[in-house]
Amino acid sequence: MSGISAKRVRTRHFFEAKAAGTPISALTSYDALSASIFDEAGIDMLLVGDSAANVVLGRDTTLSITVDEMIVLAKAVTLAARRALVVVDLPFGSYEASPQQAVATSVQIMKETGAHAVKIEGGVERADTIRAIVDAGIPVCGHIGFTPQSEHALGGPVIQGRGSGADKLTRDARAVEAAGAFAVVLEMVPAEIAAQVTRDIEIATIGIGAGPGTDGQILVWQDAFGLNRGKTARFVRHYANLGDSLLDAARAYADDVSARSFPAAEESYE
Ligand code: KIV
Repeated sequence: MSGISAKRVRTRHFFEAKAAGTPISALTSYDALSASIFDEAGIDMLLVGDSAANVVLGRDTTLSITVDEMIVLAKAVTLAARRALVVVDLPFGSYEASPQQAVATSVQIMKETGAHAVKIEGGVERADTIRAIVDAGIPVCGHIGFTPQSEHALGGPVIQGRGSGADKLTRDARAVEAAGAFAVVLEMVPAEIAAQVTRDIEIATIGIGAGPGTDGQILVWQDAFGLNRGKTARFVRHYANLGDSLLDAARAYADDVSARSFPAAEESYE
């Protein structure tokens, strides 16, 4: 198994991995079965992302998912994960009003799910909030670049950090680091800028659509393993075609039921 060498991955291992140049692997997970498979595969970090709104709940954006919905999914993941660090997204509307609101939401998520950390979108403008959560004893992973909860403000899924945006991205990364985050997700950022930010800060960068120069990589598993049969972003590599396999399996089952060839005698009780 490659990646972080630890029986139980903790946030301190992210600093050690960065210092040693060991790439950090991360995937999203929203249920017990996928979590136990990814955990067994040695994935270092499982993110219960608010992307569950899209790939689990079938919604167009991440904005509508609630804290209670996130908690149901996160509980399943933490119960199944034995080794990976489990991080849960703070959903839209659960932290923006004040650092106090963010601390209350983070405490609820940590208490009710058994997760190890929370993730929050935003850079400079979210630094006080990250600091407040960290001061409450809760590890925080930042998320800058394209931040899906702000997709209407950003004008859709647009690459961030190009041209003069590079300075903003650097300021955001530094602010998240100074506020006490243990890692930061960089989403949809030019590879060169992401690599530059990665060199500039001491916390680990986890890239999604940010090229090979970050300290780790994360993908939404339904995209990477082909359960999502729709169009995916350029940065997704397809490791499997689970959607097609499932379609074939479901058709075979439907055919067997129609033909009354399922169940057979050995699949029935005497
Ligand atoms: O919710 C999510 O899946 C995420 C990843 C895209 C990093 O935030």
